[in-house]
Amino acid sequence: MPHYYTLGLIPHKRHTQFRKPDGNLYSEQLFSTEGFSNDYSILYHTNPPTKIIKTDDAVDVMPKIAEEKMLKHRSFEGFNIKPEKDYLDSRKAILVNNDLHIVLAAPQQGMKDYFFKNADADEMIFVHEGSGKLITQYGEIEFGYGDYLVIPRGSIYQISFNDTNNRLFIVESFSPIRYPKKYLSKYGQLLENSPYCERDIRTPQNLQTKDEQGDFSIKTKKRGMLYSLHYAHHPFDVVGWDGCCYPFAFSIHDFEPITGRVHQPPPVHQTFEANNFVVCSFCPRLYDYHPLSIPAPYNHSNIDSDELLYYVDGDFMSRKHVSRGMLTLHPAGIPHGPHPNAVEKSIGKKETEELAVMVDTFHPLQLTKQALQLEDDRYTYSWTE
Ligand SMILES: [Fe+2]
Repeated sequence: MPHYYTLGLIPHKRHTQFRKPDGNLYSEQLFSTEGFSNDYSILYHTNPPTKIIKTDDAVDVMPKIAEEKMLKHRSFEGFNIKPEKDYLDSRKAILVNNDLHIVLAAPQQGMKDYFFKNADADEMIFVHEGSGKLITQYGEIEFGYGDYLVIPRGSIYQISFNDTNNRLFIVESFSPIRYPKKYLSKYGQLLENSPYCERDIRTPQNLQTKDEQGDFSIKTKKRGMLYSLHYAHHPFDVVGWDGCCYPFAFSIHDFEPITGRVHQPPPVHQTFEANNFVVCSFCPRLYDYHPLSIPAPYNHSNIDSDELLYYVDGDFMSRKHVSRGMLTLHPAGIPHGPHPNAVEKSIGKKETEELAVMVDTFHPLQLTKQALQLEDDRYTYSWTE
């Protein structure tokens, strides 16, 4: 992410001697997700971040594809994902392609005896239900209902939840998740016409330096395998860091919707982008105010993108039978639009309370076995009901 931030102790100059009170050097680590030619942070560790003492056998966690190719509208009951105690076990990939994995999770517990690193993917964790704390090498971020947690790939983290009722909608992105370029000035400030600004971005706080020796397991996901690497010291041993690559939180409730006299197209809802997909937030807002306006969306032919909508809360005027945690997938290649009567019903309505997250992918999504177990197969024909 483009904005500079610093926490804890750092030396005046990068790549120079920075000593502990006992005279020994801190270990400097440059952290970036795109080599040495894009955003980065520099962290100062109490111990070198390289001391592996043991490795366990790797576990295959690759999503199992059930349908690689298809052309029909789909719908899934996301809340039918069963709660599971363990955070990593609870994560179920449902839709995947080479750019991203869409994952649902209902973890009952955070991680206590291990840490997690996704070495392949930036993670965007949307918190639908639950609250707690994201703990990282950069500090802590408190989260709750409606928060997007964005975690650069390679970050080591733990999550703790305040109770057992948690529902997460997760995007694993194989390229950096960024603010949309159209919202940024030439030098990276969020522009006046963007629906959120730097004040809405919540950075890590309360950096705790854990100088502990022992056996610390970092479960690391790489190319569909989960490796448990044991280190000789606590990974959260950072005394300070600075830079532009770090986890952050942004609340969907801080997204300021852009409205108009007539229906605004989905790009006004854009929140994040990565290679070959975008994330949009549909938030409570006033409807269009032209005297003859039609608030329901027009039919549209999304010939170059699959549209995945994750329903969070509120009423959804364009569809019937919508439940919390439901997902609809409208694939590239066939038009979609409001359900019968939704257009007439929408006329005269002044506002909507809908809350939803949309992910549009520019390459088709494949369905996993898990997705088929959640599917409502009547949806394809629901426009003729
Ligand atoms: Fe659409």
